[in-house]
Amino acid sequence: MRREDFPALASGAAYFDGPGGTQVPSAVIDAMARYLRGANANTHGAFATSEATDAMILAARQAVSDLLGAEGGHCVAFGANMTTLCYMLAFALGRGLAPGDEVVACEVNHEANIAPWEALGCCRVVPLHDMTVHADDLHLTPKTRVVAVTWASNATGAVADVAAICRAAHDVGAVAVVDAVHYVPHFPVHVQAIGCDFLLTSAYKWFGPHVGAVYGKPAAWEALDPYRLQPQGDVAPEKFETGTLNHEGLAGVIAAVDWIASLSPAGAPRRVRLRGAMQAIAAHEEALADQLRSGLADLAVRTFTPPAPHTPTVSFLPNRRTPAEVAAALGRRGCHVWDGDFFATRCVRALGTESLVRVGFAPYNTAEEVDRLLEALAEIL
Ligand SMILES: Cc1ncc(COP(=O)(O)O)c(C=O)c1O
Repeated sequence: MRREDFPALASGAAYFDGPGGTQVPSAVIDAMARYLRGANANTHGAFATSEATDAMILAARQAVSDLLGAEGGHCVAFGANMTTLCYMLAFALGRGLAPGDEVVACEVNHEANIAPWEALGCCRVVPLHDMTVHADDLHLTPKTRVVAVTWASNATGAVADVAAICRAAHDVGAVAVVDAVHYVPHFPVHVQAIGCDFLLTSAYKWFGPHVGAVYGKPAAWEALDPYRLQPQGDVAPEKFETGTLNHEGLAGVIAAVDWIASLSPAGAPRRVRLRGAMQAIAAHEEALADQLRSGLADLAVRTFTPPAPHTPTVSFLPNRRTPAEVAAALGRRGCHVWDGDFFATRCVRALGTESLVRVGFAPYNTAEEVDRLLEALAEIL
């Protein structure tokens, strides 16, 4: 899919490292350079480049709103990355906790969606079940104030039924926080349909720069009391954003969303094109993941395939070599894969290991690359 748009692919390497961060199309790189060349300024000034920056920030909020199916750009705040935004959210929600209250996180979560909640001192972590978590596992009570779940595991691709989990959270009056970092690059998203209060994503996982974004539904933003500077005011999403944003990154965020939309025929509204594009991405990537899974069945590895649905992220444990050895040997052959626990430390441990080899797919991957990977693996193993 549109490989020519990605200058990094000219290196000849096969990039299977998408779950750690995708490659970036020229349109995104150009948009960032264009902002720095021609519109670089701080906000709210009475001159052209500052006015252009104010407009660009609003456009970036709207772009992410379209990608996520939010009520509008006013629901989207930006920050350094998901981890930082999740700490900010935890500290803000933590201000409303009373003695005896609890916060629930899940073993399937990336550490970025556990440690911030544990910092509040009243966090219970729900064990892994079917490589993910189910609403019935949560055992929520009226004392549960927050439920923090990861939509898709970045270690195994397992997908949780977050709509059911959000309903369970709301049934006891808790706030539902969804980490969608590994889900958003692979499937259409409609935040209003899943009913979450907050949802976190990172643009560098979907062809953009290193910028984090958090969606909050209007009532959730209204109720939130984040730590902030007095001049910041009390209006979301600005009340949640600390200091000056990464403006050139936001220019890249708009271009990344537009690049995804451009995979669908022109003419329809961007939100509609994004849905079509994400469906096409999901189909393309799932075919590659199936090809890899069937090839791995003939090799000396143990695969970790969660029940469907799952993202096109394939993790395995070599029988006679360490994941680090296999990833390094693949790296020498120009196949970029990750090894380790990917900060999904507790999830990987619950699977009975400290480390896995992880192969991730992006729209620019091809069936020929999967063949190359399988041949290389057969040789190494
Ligand atoms: C599922 C998941 N959650 C959270 C994160 C952390 O994201 P960030 O690097 O934006 O802090 C990652 C990063 O890999 C992830 O895969």
